[in-house]
Amino acid sequence: MMATETTDPPQRSFAESTAASALLALITDGPYLPWGAGVMRPGGLVAVCNDVVLHGRRAVVELGGGTSTVLLARLLRQRWPAGGARHIVVEHDLTWASWLTEQLAREGLDDRVSLVHAPLTPHPLAVAGLDWYDEDRLQAGLDEALAGEAVDLLVVDGPPADTAARVLARFPALPALSSRLAPGATVVLDDVERPGETEVLRRWESELPVRFERREKAAGIALGTVPAEGLTAAATT
Ligand SMILES: C[S@@+](CC[C@H](N)C(=O)[O-])C[C@H]1O[C@@H](n2cnc3c(N)ncnc32)[C@H](O)[C@@H]1O
Repeated sequence: MMATETTDPPQRSFAESTAASALLALITDGPYLPWGAGVMRPGGLVAVCNDVVLHGRRAVVELGGGTSTVLLARLLRQRWPAGGARHIVVEHDLTWASWLTEQLAREGLDDRVSLVHAPLTPHPLAVAGLDWYDEDRLQAGLDEALAGEAVDLLVVDGPPADTAARVLARFPALPALSSRLAPGATVVLDDVERPGETEVLRRWESELPVRFERREKAAGIALGTVPAEGLTAAATT
């Protein structure tokens, strides 16, 4: 009886404090970074960093930049020489794009991260008239930064989906980028404790052959793996 009653809150606080400790190797590898509710939770960041380290990721795309971008750039610097990895962040907001540009330059990381500024505009894959990243800006930016390489880690933490009108705002990410994902690539969706992201996951799983492992309590994320045949091939069979 006691064992079942104690599972949830203790597990979560243990996981978060452990995750926060694990991140110290990145947090202390540069100057102070802003933290707040907009930043991925420690458990989510650790899952992303684990994927980089355990699977040797070197073509990483983030949708929605911020503190996570700088920490990931620090991790990729620890693991790869200059030019050894591609890290692309897609950001819709000019103010955050400017902050990122300045912060990355301050740390000498600007050569390691390609920032694609893509404002939010109507998008054919968006749900119910919502907007998404400007298709032309996004695809042109990815074409240039990836130079033909497939993405092996996609982190979906944007655009903002934290208001009632925007709960499904992140849906286009997987269908829009499926043909760019390498076989075996990891897809991470943040904020999956919210009903909107739960529905986004349901739609992705019903439309594409990717199954997601939900870690909403410990990390706020879900992780999916692209099948060996890739998503474009799998979707057409
Ligand atoms: C959920 S945030 C992305 C946060 C980022 N992936 C991270 O973990 O640091 C989504 C959008 O909010 C803005 N943003 C970035 N960092 C933020 C923060 N700390 N607080 C509030 N909004 C933020 C940016 O425009 C970003 O694209």
